[in-house]
Amino acid sequence: MAKPDKSRTEGLTTKVQERAVAAGIDLDALPRHIAIIMDGNGRWAKKQGMQRLIGHAQGYRTLKDVLLCASNLGIEVLTVYGFSAENWRRPDDEVQGLMKLIGNAARTELADLVRNNVQTRILGRLEEIPAETRRSLQALADSTRANTGIVFNLAINYGGRAEIVDAVKKIIDAEIPADRVDEEAISMRLYAPDLPEPDLIVRTAGEMRWSNFLIWQAAYAELFVTDTSWPDFGERELFDAVLAFQRRERKFGGL
Ligand code: FPP
Repeated sequence: MAKPDKSRTEGLTTKVQERAVAAGIDLDALPRHIAIIMDGNGRWAKKQGMQRLIGHAQGYRTLKDVLLCASNLGIEVLTVYGFSAENWRRPDDEVQGLMKLIGNAARTELADLVRNNVQTRILGRLEEIPAETRRSLQALADSTRANTGIVFNLAINYGGRAEIVDAVKKIIDAEIPADRVDEEAISMRLYAPDLPEPDLIVRTAGEMRWSNFLIWQAAYAELFVTDTSWPDFGERELFDAVLAFQRRERKFGGL
């Protein structure tokens, strides 16, 4: 699943890469970090007369496929919004169902992710997550820490503003004087300071909102919104997002 060591892939392409090239993707200009707002599970389920949690379960299947696809394509970092700090406001049964789904997924996928060299990290205030789910997520992160393939960031109980607040608290705790507080001082205290910022943020199900996702890191990211609901998202849609990214001219504020 994960990107094998470079030394072993030199000159080799995966089937996904072959299909990507056929679709017009330039493998030398891939986004290093793709972040996804996986929206539309509920609407997808409703449209088929099913409960929202069935939509989330299908969303989990999609996530497994997309992680595999991104890894084989050669993406270095994939970050997904699994549960926002605002999602606690949903009805109890949905919150509990999502926590159960996430905890089960962490336990079920652990062996596969280890075997496939995926490094999984949890972004968010882990300490506020119900104990059983938290332990499973922690075990997943601990067991995959040494893996060298794709970095898979699972944003759970995540809020972009909360992440900035947490960084500011670390600055205050470290007694850093105001004249030494700059962008770098904040960036280096975010949840994953060692990773490249997302180059491409994908949102499914058509909403044109950031929803408090990676708001600091998104400063120069390209945004790709598709009407496709997350459960229907797949390789074709991922390729479309990468193609749109490659058509854009990134200026970073310059001309
Ligand atoms: C947004 O769709 C999606 C979520 C709040 C949850 C995303 C979770 C998954 C895809 C399952 C993840 C599994 C793991 C292991 C992380 P929505 O419910 O807001 O959809 P709607 O806007 O159509 O109601």
